[in-house]
Formats: sequence, C-alpha cells, structure tokens
Amino acid sequence: MGIRQTGDLWWKNAVFYCLDVETYQDGDGDGIGDFKGLLRRLDHLEGLGVTCLWLMPFYPSPDRDDGYDIADYYGVDPRLGTLGDFVDVMRAARERGMRVIADLVVNHTSVAHPWFQASRSDPESPYRDWYVWRDEVPKDGPDGIVFPDKEDSNWQWDEKAKQYYLHRFYKSQPDLDIANPKVREEICRIVGFWLELGLSGFRVDAVPFLIETAGIDKPGDFAPHGWLRDLRAFINRRRGEAILMGEVNLMPEDVRRFFGDEDGDELHMCLNFNLNQAMALSLARGDTGPLLHSLQTQPSIAPEDQWANFIRNHDEWSLDKLTEAEREEAFKAFGPKDSMQLFGRGLRRRLPTMLDGDQDRIRTAYALAFALPGSPVLFYGEEIGMAENLDIPGRMSVRSPMQWLPGPSGGFSTAPPDKLHRPIVGGRKWGPSAVNVADQLRDPGSLLTWMSGLLRVRRATPELGFGKVSVLPVESGAVVALAHDWEDRTLLTFHNLGEAPVTVEAKPPGAADWEGLITVLGEGEAKLAKDGTVTVELGRYGHRWLNAARPGDVFRR
Ligand code: GLC
Repeated sequence: MGIRQTGDLWWKNAVFYCLDVETYQDGDGDGIGDFKGLLRRLDHLEGLGVTCLWLMPFYPSPDRDDGYDIADYYGVDPRLGTLGDFVDVMRAARERGMRVIADLVVNHTSVAHPWFQASRSDPESPYRDWYVWRDEVPKDGPDGIVFPDKEDSNWQWDEKAKQYYLHRFYKSQPDLDIANPKVREEICRIVGFWLELGLSGFRVDAVPFLIETAGIDKPGDFAPHGWLRDLRAFINRRRGEAILMGEVNLMPEDVRRFFGDEDGDELHMCLNFNLNQAMALSLARGDTGPLLHSLQTQPSIAPEDQWANFIRNHDEWSLDKLTEAEREEAFKAFGPKDSMQLFGRGLRRRLPTMLDGDQDRIRTAYALAFALPGSPVLFYGEEIGMAENLDIPGRMSVRSPMQWLPGPSGGFSTAPPDKLHRPIVGGRKWGPSAVNVADQLRDPGSLLTWMSGLLRVRRATPELGFGKVSVLPVESGAVVALAHDWEDRTLLTFHNLGEAPVTVEAKPPGAADWEGLITVLGEGEAKLAKDGTVTVELGRYGHRWLNAARPGDVFRR
C-alpha cells in the first residue's frame, strides 16, 4: 500500500450488524417489521456504534424460507414497505455514517419467481435454460442435503415441465443455472441496481452452491472462480467501496480459495465458520486448545481481504466441522435437549441462554469474538442479550422480534402479541420485561452499555482489523492471550474461558522497551516488569485488552 488506505478499506475495521427488517421494528402496527420502523431505530444502531448494517432479504417473496426465496430481485416486499422507504433508510443511515449491505441470494429463486414460472411452463421459453432441468436424476449431481428435515433429494419432479429441477435448499427454491451467461448477466444487473441505490455491497448467500456446476448438463466453459473474480471487478467498477462478504462454510483451505489467489481478487470477506465452530468448542470446554489451533492453522489472506467473525448468526449454530465427539461435547454444554438442536449438526439457541445468562461469561465471549483478527458481525438482539424462542420451529427460533421496551409486544409493534409476525420471547427471565433496549440504555451496568463500549474500543483499535496476530504462550490452558501488532501499535488481549480466576504471565516480544500498559477494556491489575514480563489478573470468565505505551507515543490511550 503506497499511501495510507485504511479508510478506503473500510470493511477491515468495520462493525457489522445483521438484522431482518421483518422482525426489527413494526412501523405501521400490522405486526410485521418494516422499513419505516427500521428508520426510527437507526439512532439505536448509531448509538451502539455499528458501522455497517447487513439487511437480510427484504425482496418480494412468498416467505417460505424467511425471504431467502425471492420472487423479484428489483423490489421491496410490500409487507415491509416500498422502494421509497428503503431509500429513506439508506439516506438516514448515510447521514449517521453507517453503510448498508444486503443479502444477495442468487443460487436460487423462489418457485413463485416469474422466471421459474415461465421456465417450467414452456420448453420454448427464453427462461427455460435459466434453471437446471434434467429428464432423470443424474449420477453426477451434487451430494448432501442441506435441509434434511424437509428434503430427501436435491431434485424435484415437476409435473408442468415433465422434468426434474435442481434445488440445493428447499424444493420451493429452484437453483438458477449459473453456467448460463444470461443468468450471470442478470446477476450483474441486480447487483448494479442495488449499488445505484446506495448499498455498499452484499452478503452473498451460499457461495459454494452458487458457483458449483454439479448436476448441470452442459456447464460449457464456465469457470466458477473466474466468475467470482469478474463479479468483484464488476462491483468495484460500479462502486469502488463495495464488498462481497461470502457465506462459505467449508474447510479452511477450501474457504481460502474463495478469497481468490494470492492477490485476493474474489470475495473481499468470508464469514469465519471454522473459527466460529472452534470457539464454540473452546467455550464449552473452558479450554483454549481448539480456538488457538484454528487460529494458528487459518490460511493467510491478502491485505485487502478480511475475515468476518461472529458468535451467532440467523441460522442454527452449525457445528458441522467438529468431529462427532466434539459436537456432542458442545451439545451437552450448550443444548442438551433434542429441542435445542437441529439437523444433528447445530444448536438453535442464542448465546446468553446457552451460558445461563452468566454476564461475565457472555461479555468475555463477545470481547473474544471482537479480538479475533477480522471484523466482527453482530446479530440483532445480541447487544441486549436476547434469548431464542424455541417455540418457533427450526432455525427461526433465533429470529424472534427485537425487544425494545417492557410490555407484551416488546415495543416491536403496537399489535398485540398474538398478531406478531413471529412470537416474541416469553417468560420473566428472557421476555421483554426483563430484556429490552430501553431499560438497558438507562443502566450503566447493562450489557447494552458494555457492548457500546466494546464497539467504541473495537473501532479505535485498528490493530485488530489490520494487524498481525500472534499467540502469546501462557501457563493457563483457559486463557487466550494474543498480541496484535500493526504499524507502531501493539494491543494485547487476554480472555479467561474458565470459571476460576487466574493470574497469567506473558512475554510479548519487545515489551522490555515499553513504558507501560494502558487498559482499554476490562478491569483488574496488569503489570509490566522491566524485563518485559506482563502480569495480568483475570477474574472468573474475565478479559482485558491492553495497549502498549511506547516511549514518545503521543497517541497512547
Ligand atoms: C443460507 C442462509 C439461510 C438460507 C439458505 C438458503 O444458508 O443463511 O438462512 O435458508 O442460505 O438461501
């Protein structure tokens, strides 16, 4: 980098916040969240310190997979508002210094999409070859079923077409034929459309499925990764700052491929499922082993690319990369009942319930997630420690309405609780009377207050987004000790995954030349000895972030 480009590479130091317009804030009292409601809640997001919103699908949809089944790529679902309302939100977000990205779901459409309707109804239709049709279920089709609760095949017989169509997800989501240049042309048009309306990029849904050609009769000369490179080049021609954040839940080396070759010219970001799953196991065991192993074996990425780290997302907490025994351990710790698990591979709970509401543990888990190299992604409600609602089936358990105020509908809507799009979390411990934004905003000791502090510190700590991380050896197997170096700054982070308070000693390289340590997060004693030994006292599930004070450093905090 010739000139300082840190500001240009905004995604390297961003804090993302994923929300579903449908469950965030109802602005018109019909029980369904909408853009008018979201507009009123942007101040909350600004106050929290979010720098980029990730909007889950808001496009017209029959809603058979919570909007991940799209019937029109160029509009807003009428239940959520209008394009005008969307643009109001974009403008108001920009005014508050927040960027917005949105889900790009183009592996498949909804069966209700006019393209599919035309495709299935008429072999001569120009849309016939936009989908993957086969006379028989082919032997070279893709392996594995994504939603084994509802599907037992990736192929569905269609009476109208008298052929089978490919669907990697639900049968109501037929796969587009990515090898068809017209489909790819259309994807560019869709992406270009939303970039014109101000989006700063996309969270790209199901990327490995999107570019795979298994099952496609004649893939021709379609080059999957060449196309991802073209897509990145295209969005950056249209809008220099736009990014692609990919959902790529594969083994580490396979994920690396999706960033592109050494130059990193495909996806700008990948959601870090491997580190996320290792973290689950480490939290469950109170042992740093799995997390540090994952961190140390993580492939390196190009300087302009970035990992997106998260604890929970809108799907189940997938633990599919763990061994069966490890997964069982995590299930035992965090979701022992069958009703808390999903597909035998994940947990359908949010973090606070899994940690029994233990504030020390919850905070240290988030501090840790924010201290991992990359940019953090929050899922709505995490800032107040919201629970899941296990009465909502499947993965939707964590997509209950946001809790703004005490009261039966939680300030999400003026509609009564039984009229809400999805049932709100109930009960005295986790319902809106106990867990809501308004109360926590006034309480200096609340999770929300603490979380805003975490976001403020994270934003002021580019060492984490841009720096080089190294593991500091310490004696305790419960303490993750990391050094983050960037330019002339060093941040040390300590996270105690165990219940027992512990004092650790670390020897960061070069620390003998430092003048002292400045605590930027967490509480307790931290000492720097003349020989460069750092001694940190950590409480039960405690954490500490420390800045090295170097002689003559005027920017020290
Ligand atoms: C992704 C989304 C999930 C959705 C699926 C199909 O995995 O995260 O919520 O159901 O894609 O679009």
